[in-house]
Amino acid sequence: MKNENWIAPSILSANFAKLGEEVDNVLKAGADIVHFDVMDNHFVPNLTIGPLVCEALRKHGVTAPIDVHLMVEPVDRIVPDFAKAGASYITFHPEGSVHIDRTLQLIKDCGCKAGLVFNPGTPLSHLDYVMDKLDMILLMSVNPGFGGQSFLPSALGKLREVRKRIDDSGFNIRLEIDGGVNGANIGAIKAAGADTFVAGSAIFGKPDYKAIIDEMRAEMAKVG
Ligand code: DX5
Ligand code: ZN
Repeated sequence: MKNENWIAPSILSANFAKLGEEVDNVLKAGADIVHFDVMDNHFVPNLTIGPLVCEALRKHGVTAPIDVHLMVEPVDRIVPDFAKAGASYITFHPEGSVHIDRTLQLIKDCGCKAGLVFNPGTPLSHLDYVMDKLDMILLMSVNPGFGGQSFLPSALGKLREVRKRIDDSGFNIRLEIDGGVNGANIGAIKAAGADTFVAGSAIFGKPDYKAIIDEMRAEMAKVG
């Protein structure tokens, strides 16, 4: 099963003083899904945004899927709040939850799509018994906490490994990559098996969002 390629701008690099407008503009420029980074100054050394901001984007009129990437610990307490706030996908790190299977089920019971996130050093064995509960697998290609870091090339081999696991499983699971993605490396990342591409600084750091999103799509088209 082949999913269409989704570009997921990370609003971590947007101008928070005019977030609604930024999200409107990046969607108008051709983005598919809004990547929403939640950091708690505990699981990662940074503090960002919570359910109130997600709800505010929905009230502002954002209808695109919102992809909530939880870099928090614990996870379960905040899941229903994000579901009520309009999250579409909720992904979390296995290190943040004592009971991974239960958290995945909780996300689904709340009506959202569920995913697991792997830090560069986190083994894929966490996937072994939960493939049937996953809508998304997110591989970090930087250590989480900040935008603007460089892509770690070890993520390419890991992507190929997860792509094989997904294909062998027969489930329809998106394979997302997050960290250091830009126009120069997105082709290789796609070739390694990703279908959902988070990009923060590469998009919001440019004056013309459509130009960079078009460039990313053109680079992906080159690898088929
Ligand atoms: C990092 C976040 C990323 C971040 C990516 O912890 O999960 O989503 O915003 O930013 P770039 O694309 O600038 O590496
Ligand atoms: Zn993220």
